[in-house]
Amino acid sequence: MSNSIKLAILGLGTVGTGVINLINDNLNELKRRSGRDIIITEVGTRRHRDDIDPNIVQNSDLMATAASDNVDIVVEVIGGTTLAKDVIMHAIKNGKHVVTANKALLAEHGNEIFAFAEEHNVHVAYEAAVAGGIPIIKVMREALAANKIDWLAGIINGTGNFIMTEMRDKGRPFADVLSEAQELGYAEADPTFDVEGIDAAHKLALLASIAFGIPLQFDKVYCEGITGITLQDVNYAEELGYRIKHLGFAVRRDGQGNDEASGIELRVHPTLIPQDALLANVNGVKNAVLVNSHPLGQTLYCGDGAGAGATASAVMADVMDLVRVLGSKDSHDESNSNQNNHGHHVPHLAFIPEQLSDTPILRAEQMITGYYLRVHAYDSPGVLADITRILSDAGINIDAILQKPAHKVGQVPVIILTLPVVESQMNLAIEKIEKLETITDKVVRIRLDELA
Ligand code: HSE
Repeated sequence: MSNSIKLAILGLGTVGTGVINLINDNLNELKRRSGRDIIITEVGTRRHRDDIDPNIVQNSDLMATAASDNVDIVVEVIGGTTLAKDVIMHAIKNGKHVVTANKALLAEHGNEIFAFAEEHNVHVAYEAAVAGGIPIIKVMREALAANKIDWLAGIINGTGNFIMTEMRDKGRPFADVLSEAQELGYAEADPTFDVEGIDAAHKLALLASIAFGIPLQFDKVYCEGITGITLQDVNYAEELGYRIKHLGFAVRRDGQGNDEASGIELRVHPTLIPQDALLANVNGVKNAVLVNSHPLGQTLYCGDGAGAGATASAVMADVMDLVRVLGSKDSHDESNSNQNNHGHHVPHLAFIPEQLSDTPILRAEQMITGYYLRVHAYDSPGVLADITRILSDAGINIDAILQKPAHKVGQVPVIILTLPVVESQMNLAIEKIEKLETITDKVVRIRLDELA
């Protein structure tokens, strides 16, 4: 083996360019840490770029680059789930290790891709796919390997967090903040992935798999974005001591409590959390993941979740790990090609494939959360009593109520915070509230979590 490690970068967008810049900037550090020269030998790009080092081959045939003899590790930063999948499968088939930042691809096809990689005795590393520069995959797969994870909650979409922060702090309009996020390279190619919660759902599927040892099940993630959040709700939440953040939750339920089903909740949605919670103070494009595990307890990981530098940092951390794999004398040893020999590398989904569990993913109606309700009612005697009676009949415990003087305007919002309740119970209660003659609009509901 020559002393240098040869990389191919497939895709020269924000992340690909960030990786090239990182290697140029930190060449010496990379060599001092790995003991090897890490060089880019090829880039896969549809359009020729004049600003790339002429020693690097530019190839518009990405499949050829993925299989090139001049490449040890393929870095896929094209994005999308079609061409990216083809080139990754082709690279694997040709014995290349792969580094990818592609959360959509892994969330949707990761089970197949990882199985194919194991069959071919190569690794597909994906630190950059979740929470940008935060090394959360390494933490959960390796540093927390001795723990049983009970739940995690995370701000895992930088664009969404940036928008929510700017709206709250500066009262800026939604569209204006979104275009700034796009200019800064935070947003997905299709920004609805950010604002509708799909990007967060992709990342949550990955986090949940490595937390609980379950196959990837993106299609079972309950997903709500931030497009329905109004300044009015942001302000009422603040008045009651809460802040609205867009969060992803993966929660293990043991079926012990009242009406509690046994299984795993996978959900992304706007959530009221206490203003003094650390997560409530993670602002701008920052991401953060709070992990509750036994016996460690709560730990919080925070940093830049999007952008060229943060993502390139995670991509290159994976490359550095793979440099060590390539350097270990038995990395392609026959004994290692036996699928049951998992001793030499961290399993793709943290648990050895034969041990992944079929624990059910709970349906939305089975999920348990607190609620913020905004109910618009006419000012008349007994309205509040009617609403609270419906809630108490459903066994829903009210934690706080806020109503402004109503007599001047005739109708006002009543804000109610509840303790955790099974969603099916809340659905029934809301249906009944909306049937009251004194209620003027649909009930607005946002989930609430104390993060305790
Ligand atoms: N669009 C993503 C975000 C980029 O805003 O977090 C990183 O995955």
